[in-house]
Amino acid sequence: MDSVLPCMPDTVFDSPPPAFTVEEVAHFAGQHFGISGPARSLESERDQNVQVGDYAVKVSNSAESRAELDLQHAALAHLALADPTLAVPRVAAPGVVEHGGHLLRALTFLPGAPYATVAHSPELRHQLGRFMGRMSRGLQGFGHPAAHKAGFLWNLDNVAAIRPWVADITHDADRAVVERAFRRHQQRVQPLLHLLRGAVVHHDANDYNVLVESVLINGSTTGPIISGLIDFGDMLFARQVNELAVTLAYALLDAPDLVAAGRDVISGYTAEFLLTDDELRVVYDLAATRLAMSIAISSHRRHEFPDNEYLTISQAPALRLLRRLMSMRPEFLYFAAREAAGLQPVPQHDRIVSWLQSPECQPASVLPFDLRRAGRVVISLADGAPATNFPGPVESWEWMQAQMDAAGAQVVVGRYDEDRSCYQGEQFRTDAPEPRSVHTGIDLFIAENTTVHAMLPGVVESVVDNDVAYDYGPTVVLRHATHTGTVDAGTPFWVLYGHLARATLTHVRVGDTVAAGDVVGFIGDHTVNGGWAPHVHVQIMTDLMADPETGFDGNFEGAGEPSRMALWRSLVPDANLLIRLAPETFDDHSADQPSVLQPMRSADLGPSLSISYRDHLSIVRGDGVWLFDHEGRGYLDCVNNVAHVGHAHPHVVAAIARQAAILNTNTRYLHRTILDYAERLAATFPAPLSVVYFTNSGSEANELALRIARTATGRHDIVALDWGYHGNTNDLVEISAYKFNRAGGAGKPPHTHLAELPDPYRGLHGDDGPAYAKSVAVAITAAVAHNGAGPAAFIAESISGCGGQVVFPAGCLAAAYQHARAAGTLCIADEVQVGFGRVGKAMWAFEEHGVVPDIVTLGKPIGNGHPLGAVVTTAPLAAQFANGMEWFNTFGGNPVSCAAGMAVLDVIDHEGLQARALDTGGYLLARFQELATRHAVIGDVRGRGLYLGLDLVTDRSTKEPATRLAADVANRLRERGVLISTDGPHDNVIKIKPPIVFTRADADILCFELDNALSELSSSATH
Ligand SMILES: Cc1ncc(COP(=O)(O)O)c(C=O)c1O
Repeated sequence: MDSVLPCMPDTVFDSPPPAFTVEEVAHFAGQHFGISGPARSLESERDQNVQVGDYAVKVSNSAESRAELDLQHAALAHLALADPTLAVPRVAAPGVVEHGGHLLRALTFLPGAPYATVAHSPELRHQLGRFMGRMSRGLQGFGHPAAHKAGFLWNLDNVAAIRPWVADITHDADRAVVERAFRRHQQRVQPLLHLLRGAVVHHDANDYNVLVESVLINGSTTGPIISGLIDFGDMLFARQVNELAVTLAYALLDAPDLVAAGRDVISGYTAEFLLTDDELRVVYDLAATRLAMSIAISSHRRHEFPDNEYLTISQAPALRLLRRLMSMRPEFLYFAAREAAGLQPVPQHDRIVSWLQSPECQPASVLPFDLRRAGRVVISLADGAPATNFPGPVESWEWMQAQMDAAGAQVVVGRYDEDRSCYQGEQFRTDAPEPRSVHTGIDLFIAENTTVHAMLPGVVESVVDNDVAYDYGPTVVLRHATHTGTVDAGTPFWVLYGHLARATLTHVRVGDTVAAGDVVGFIGDHTVNGGWAPHVHVQIMTDLMADPETGFDGNFEGAGEPSRMALWRSLVPDANLLIRLAPETFDDHSADQPSVLQPMRSADLGPSLSISYRDHLSIVRGDGVWLFDHEGRGYLDCVNNVAHVGHAHPHVVAAIARQAAILNTNTRYLHRTILDYAERLAATFPAPLSVVYFTNSGSEANELALRIARTATGRHDIVALDWGYHGNTNDLVEISAYKFNRAGGAGKPPHTHLAELPDPYRGLHGDDGPAYAKSVAVAITAAVAHNGAGPAAFIAESISGCGGQVVFPAGCLAAAYQHARAAGTLCIADEVQVGFGRVGKAMWAFEEHGVVPDIVTLGKPIGNGHPLGAVVTTAPLAAQFANGMEWFNTFGGNPVSCAAGMAVLDVIDHEGLQARALDTGGYLLARFQELATRHAVIGDVRGRGLYLGLDLVTDRSTKEPATRLAADVANRLRERGVLISTDGPHDNVIKIKPPIVFTRADADILCFELDNALSELSSSATH
C-alpha cells in the first residue's frame, strides 16, 4: 500500500519484498486455502500481494515474524465476533502457512478505492471517524503478547528515539515546526501519559489503508462510503487515543477548515467510542506528533537513501498540515475536540457560569453609575445597520449621542454574539474559510475618559496596548475566581476590558489586586482605541488559552468565526452574566412603546383610569423590588405594597401555578386549602377575631364589612375619618372623603359622618390622641341625630394612607373605640394598606394602638398581587350575619387564591420579612431624618416600618404644602429609575411603601436619588 506518510517497520522496510509470479501465488492459494479465481497483482512495498478470486493472498516479507501475523489474525478474529459487520478482512483457514521460507495467508479482498483518491465530504469524514470508533470499540478486551512491540518506530510514545532525526530535515523553517511539535508533545502529552489508557490499536488508518466505495441505493449511486480498512501491520498495544490521533493526521491533510474537518472525524469516532477528557486534551497534539514523526523519519531515510525523492515529496502535505496545527493554540484544539465529542467545549464553562448566576456573585457596575437603572439604546453593528453607515468613528459617535439624547439614555449598547461586518483588519483572518466576525463581548459606548470599573474583586492579569487598527488599543484583563472568600480557591476566569485610554496603561499594573468597583481604566477615544467610537468592550473568558511556551500576551479574540461560535460561546460566555442588563434590553420592544400603548389605553380603557408619572411607563416584568420597562431599564419599586414579598416571588408563583393546574372552582364544595388558610390567617389575629370571609379585593372586603356591621346592628350610618379611602364601590366612595370631597365627588352623603384625621403634624390637636377621638364622639352624636339610633360602624385605617401616611397619635384609636362601643357601634380596622407585618413591630397596625377591632379588612399584600381580600371577624358577629341571606362570592376563596395567600404567609415567615420591615424601615426613617437636616423642604418625616412619608413644605413655619415640588420629585426619581408616589390632601406627601423585601442597600439607592432630586429641584421649584 502506498501512503503519503510511509510508515512501516524498520527491518521490513530494509528487506526487499518476495518476488513470486502471479501464477505461482495463485497456485499456492489453491494448494493451501482451496481458493481459486482470476488472479492479479496488488501493489505492496513490503509484502507480495495477489488477488485471487475474492481473496488477497499475501506472501510476507521474509523478515516478517509469525507472531506478528498471529497478532493480526487474532485481532481480526476478535473483531469478527465483536462487530461482525465491521468491514475488515476475514482470514481464510487455516491461517498462516509456511511456503518456501515465506509466510502465506489469504484475507478476504475488500473492494473500494483508497480514501486518498476521492473528495472528502463532511459526511465521509464523519463516517471515517465512526468506522475507527467501531474499531476501537471492537478491539476492547483484545490482547495479544505480540502487540507489545518494544521500541516500535511508529509508536507515538517513541518521540525520544525519533527526535534526533529532526537534524536531518533540510529546511530551517520545516525543522523548526517539527521541533516545536515535539516540544509540544513534551509539554502537553508527556505529563499526562500515565493517565492515557492503553489498548491494542490499528495505528495506521492512513488515507491509503482506508477504502471507500460508491453504492447503489434505490437505483441511484450515493457518494462514497467507507468500505473497509486494511493493513493491520502496525497494530500494537499503545495509547488508546493514538487511534484517533493517527486517523486525524491523515484525514486533515489539506482539509479547507481544520476545526470543521476535525469535528467531522471526532464526532463520528466519539459517537461510537467515548474518549476521556485527558485523551481529548491531547488528541490534536498527538496528531501533530504523528506528522512530526513522519516528517522526521522520512527526512532521516532520505538521508540514508538520498535518491528516493518520493520520501521528501510526500512530506509536503504533512508539513502543511503540521504548520497549520502548530499555528493554532493547543487549548483551542482541545476545546474543539471536546465540542466535537458533544461535550461543553471548555470543561470549566458550566462551573463558572453557574457561579456567575449564583447569589454569591454580586457584580459592581462596570460604569460609574447604576447600569440597571440607566436608560440605554441598543444598536446593531451588523452589516448595513444604520450605525455602520458613517465615514468614521467621529460621525458614528455623534449619531450615537443623538440617539441617546432622543431616548433619555446614558449609554449605547452593542450586542454579544452579533455577526458584524466592521472587523476589517488582517488579525480577523484565521485558518477558517471565513474571518472572525461575530462579536464575543458587549460594547458600552460612552464618552471618552469615563471611568471603567472592576465588576468583581480580582487581580490584574495583563495591561497591554493592542495598538493596531481595528484592534483593542489599551486593554486590561482581570483574573477572578469562583467561590471567592472560601477555602476552595475556586475556578479562575477572566474579564477583558478593551478600547481604553492610554492613561489606563499606567493606572494599573500586572499583579495589582482590585476590589469590585475599583477604577481599572478609562474609556479611550478613536485615536488610541483601534479607531472606534468611544466605548469599552467587555468580555468574560473561561480560559486564556495561554501559549504553552510564551504565556498569555494580553490579547484575546473579541470576535469569533461564525462556524466556530459553539466554541467561542463556551470560551467567551455572554458578558451580560456580569453586566446584568435586563434581558428586555435586547428584545424587540416596538410593540410595548408608550407611544403605541398610550393611545390604545385612552381609546380602550376610558380616560378616568389613573396612570402614574408625566412620562408614562411601559412595565413588562417585575422581580423582587425591581420593575423593568419595555427597554429593560430597571426601576427600584419603592411604592408597591401589593407585591408585598417581592414581585414574582417564586414561592408564590409556584403555589399559584401548582394549584391552578389542579383545581380552581368556587367555594360551594369542601376543600382543605381554604380551611387551612383561614385557620392560619386567623391565628395571626388576637382573640376573639377568628372567622374569615374571602373576597377578591380590598373594596369587596370593606363592602362586606359594612354589610356585616349593618346586618348585625340594624343601622346604616357610618363614621369614618376625614381623608380616608376605603374602596371603589358606590357605598365605599360614599364613606371615603378622599373621593367624595375631591374632584368629581358629590360631597358627603347624609349617612356618612366624618371625624377629624388625627394628624400630629397638621391636625388641630397636635399629638393629643384622645382629643382627636372626641371628634369621633361628635360624629356618633351626629349619626344618632340623623337616624335616631347611631352609626353601624366606625371605620378607620390603622395608619392613614390617602391622608398622607399619617401615624395616629397614641391613645387616639383606643379612645375612639371606647366612644363607638359605648354607642353600640362596631369598630372596623381597614388594614388593606398596612397589614401583614409591614409596620415591623406587629403583624397588624391596629395592634400598636392596643385595640382589638370587631372587624378587620385585608387586601392588597394578601396575595402578593393575586386578587384576594378578606374580612376577619368574631364568631358572634358571623352568627348574626347569617340572617338567612346566604353569602356567596364566585371567586372569593377559590383554591388558587388561597394557595397564593398561604404562600405569602410562608414567605413572610421563612424570610423573616416582618423583622426586615422593621430594620430597613428604621434605617430609612433615620436617613430621611438626616435628609431633613439638610433639606428645609422636608417638613415632616413619619411612618412605621416600611410605610413612610415625607411631608414637603415650602416653609416649615407655615407648613405650606409643596405640592408641585412633590410631583417634580416623584417624576425626577422616575427619570433616575426610582419609583415613589405622592399622596395626602395636598398631594405633597412623598409616599414610601415598597415590597417588604426592601434592603438597606435598596434604601441607599432611594436616599441617594432623593437627596439629589431635592437638591436639584428645591432651589428652582415654584412649589
Ligand atoms: C385603605 C384602603 N382600603 C381599601 C382599598 C380598596 O382596595 P381595592 O383597590 O383592592 O379594592 C384601598 C385601595 O387603595 C385602600 O387604600
